Amino acid sequence: ADLYGPSRKNSAGVELGHAESLDALLAEIAAATAKPFPDASPIIDGKAVGGTPRPVLSPIDGKAIGTVAEADAALAGRAMLAAKAGFDDWNRTPARTRAAALRKAADLMEAKRGLLLALLQAEAGKTLDDAISEVREAVDFCRYYAAEAEAKFAMPTALPGPTGEENRLILRGRGPFLCIAPWNFPLAIFAGQVAAALVAGNSVVAKPAPQTPLIATVTVRLLHEAGVPVSALHLTPGDGALGAALVAHPAVAGVAFTGSTATARAINRALAAKDGPIVPLIAETGGLNAMIVDATALAEQVADDVVMSAFRSAGQRCSALRLLVVQEDVADKMVEMITGAGGELKLGDPRRIETHIGPVIDAAAKQRLDSHVEAMRKLGRIVWAGDAPALGGTFVAPHVVALNSIAELDREHFGPILHVVRWKSGQLDKVIEAIEATGYGLTLGVHSRIETTVEEVVSRLSTGNIYVNRNIIGAVVGAQPFGGHGLSGTGPKAGGPNYLMRFATEQTVTVNT
Ligand code: SER
Repeated sequence: ADLYGPSRKNSAGVELGHAESLDALLAEIAAATAKPFPDASPIIDGKAVGGTPRPVLSPIDGKAIGTVAEADAALAGRAMLAAKAGFDDWNRTPARTRAAALRKAADLMEAKRGLLLALLQAEAGKTLDDAISEVREAVDFCRYYAAEAEAKFAMPTALPGPTGEENRLILRGRGPFLCIAPWNFPLAIFAGQVAAALVAGNSVVAKPAPQTPLIATVTVRLLHEAGVPVSALHLTPGDGALGAALVAHPAVAGVAFTGSTATARAINRALAAKDGPIVPLIAETGGLNAMIVDATALAEQVADDVVMSAFRSAGQRCSALRLLVVQEDVADKMVEMITGAGGELKLGDPRRIETHIGPVIDAAAKQRLDSHVEAMRKLGRIVWAGDAPALGGTFVAPHVVALNSIAELDREHFGPILHVVRWKSGQLDKVIEAIEATGYGLTLGVHSRIETTVEEVVSRLSTGNIYVNRNIIGAVVGAQPFGGHGLSGTGPKAGGPNYLMRFATEQTVTVNT
């Protein structure tokens, strides 16, 4: 497999300015929306099994768009045991066959994009732009991990040894892997975790976020249709208590988790407290993502990149910009340009093509963001507030908030709220130290036309993804392996050449010939 050359390409985009492509896409979405969405439920050995039903509400208008039957601890146990029973066969299935199933899944995702896009919009409140990127990312993950598995798992690696001895290194799956996905990329991250775990030879129990079980159910069915045996992939929708029951199960051989730092810690503690094998955790968590801007930066470019990074996707990407750290001399001008550009953004129903910002995921998220804005307002820190539409959904207007120092931002606010801190010429050193001192390390931007400034920032900050003179969101599979360390996670790089190794065991075989 040619991972980096012309034979492995990422999926094609959709030219929304091209009337025919756009009409075809909207027709596919309309056709999928005309029917009720398939209900979500636990899936064990391919069968929808029991569960406690509740409606799934859309963040756009708070209305029910389907039903999910949620698993309880007993079903969690059944799913884990089913994954344990399914592991051996799947692990012994040639890596090429496993990879072929992922490739087929990627093709099916493209063929069924109408339903996936409709669900991303209705269930997760995604704009058309964001929904299209997300389907593409899911497709790209499947094809990239397929190619990676063929390159690394299909054949043992021959290693050197003295005459009369042969050494080889073999990669295989660990066992039943638990994949716990977030709601902010309910297709791409959900499918990415599951695809990586499966293609490395693991069986999987997948737990989607409580907010987005419908698209997870469609994705699991699609993976089964693509050739993943029903014994190798099981689904358990539910909340955090269900997650805890799954983590505690003795059959778990590994956990992949994307979500909050606090939950990652709780999982880590629970795994550490268990008897039996030591179980690895692959965690991708939050960030206090900053962008350092100096007086030489191109102001128009900065404004564009800040608005894109902080406000698009309603700020609900873990890569999103939380903290603009701008040199004092140009700060007023920059903030004016940013708020000017921010004022042009249309908030509203994400199913309308002209909408730039949709709702935040649910009422609890809106409430957390509103109370942060309120606290900042009381302190007189609000520099700018956009307009929120008078619709029934959970909309939060974009805001710009002034802070006195980097340390003042004590936690991640997962929405369209940009914090701005000013720095004086000659203080770059302190800025770098303060950013490193947050303990997070997910994404970072630097805008400067001075090469030595860029070099200093890049060499001294250990952030997982650094973007120079551009926006800081939308990492591309195979090109920008994504993920961070410290409070931002255990350092996995999704869509990168080392990701699958985290899901594998390595075995060295030495033969005396
Ligand atoms: N992979 C996404 C991005 O880069 C993460 O949230 O924006």
